[in-house]
Amino acid sequence: MSEIAGPAAAALASLSPDDVLFLQALPKAELHAHLNGSIPIKTLLELAQQHSPTQSSEVADTLQKLKSGAVLDEIDDFFSLMPAIYALTSTPEAVTTATRAVLQSFLNPTGDGTGSPQCAYLELRTTPRATAHMTQERYLTAVLDEVEFYPATQAALIVSVDRRMSDLDVEECVSLAIEMKNRGRRVVGVDVCGDPRKGDMQSFTQHLLRVKGAGLGLTVHIAECTENTTEDSLALLSCRPDRLGHTTFLSDELKALIRLIPCVEICLSSNILGKLVASLDTHHIHYYLKNNHPIVICTDDALPFRTSCLGEYSLLLAQPPLGLGLSRGDVTRIARMGMDAAFSRPCD
Ligand code: IMP
Ligand code: ZN
Repeated sequence: MSEIAGPAAAALASLSPDDVLFLQALPKAELHAHLNGSIPIKTLLELAQQHSPTQSSEVADTLQKLKSGAVLDEIDDFFSLMPAIYALTSTPEAVTTATRAVLQSFLNPTGDGTGSPQCAYLELRTTPRATAHMTQERYLTAVLDEVEFYPATQAALIVSVDRRMSDLDVEECVSLAIEMKNRGRRVVGVDVCGDPRKGDMQSFTQHLLRVKGAGLGLTVHIAECTENTTEDSLALLSCRPDRLGHTTFLSDELKALIRLIPCVEICLSSNILGKLVASLDTHHIHYYLKNNHPIVICTDDALPFRTSCLGEYSLLLAQPPLGLGLSRGDVTRIARMGMDAAFSRPCD
């Protein structure tokens, strides 16, 4: 696991050894982790090394930022990191290497002496990507081969659709997810992600409505930034998602509508470091806790946000202002809610 930094690291450092042991032993589900945003920095540097002679200055700049801790003042600061990461994961071999490292970082014992992995169950998500070296199907196959190395009780895949995709691309991407599932591959859901300021969600609905009919779960990034209109959110909600990502700027009117949505994916460090939420104090997690609405605690992109499952749970347990100061009982209850919100977790 990579070193963590920032608010999650500060919260973790403030805990007693006994609290840390408690969090390590807690079975946690990671349900909102983007593959290319979760590659351990060590692995990315190794991939860059293999690329060495052809490495562009953009790749070198991005690696430098990721190593020292990217400052994310605007949404573009986050999305501008992706092209360099994508340049390093543009072949099936590199996708295999990256996926294996991400799975190991979440699911193998962390080496902290407790034998506990970061999480007990991982639903990794990724956007099928065609490059000069692979088709979208080849990309997805490379990822699934690695995911299926783990038992179904531990790992599964969500196929992401990007808001910037054309209508045809969304249709093909959803079809690919359904086809893979029907072939017995371990695809359990579809996600809508990407630059929240882009795309017409109304035009996505006809494709997203096929997802649940095919027996897949649906999760959507929603109301992530102030530019997301009520119409945008309503279009996504009309597809009856099973889980919602972020929900940072949902109006009260829309909040009333989501009472029946089974779970909200909460990414504390991502929201704070991405400057979409000012502080833990004002985070929308308080609304869900107060209203007893199921949530799951997730990392989103552990690479730029330099966090981990343990770090995110530390933000729950640490005393204010470093954390929310929740009790062990509350944290246990939240972890259980996360496990219950998985799209598919066959019994152990
Ligand atoms: P990938 O799908 O494995 O390539 O993971 C990286 C991609 O996930 C990015 O290019 C974005 O499209 C998406 N992503 C990661 N984090 C966020 C987020 O916070 N909001 C919206 N999309 C995101
Ligand atoms: Zn996300």
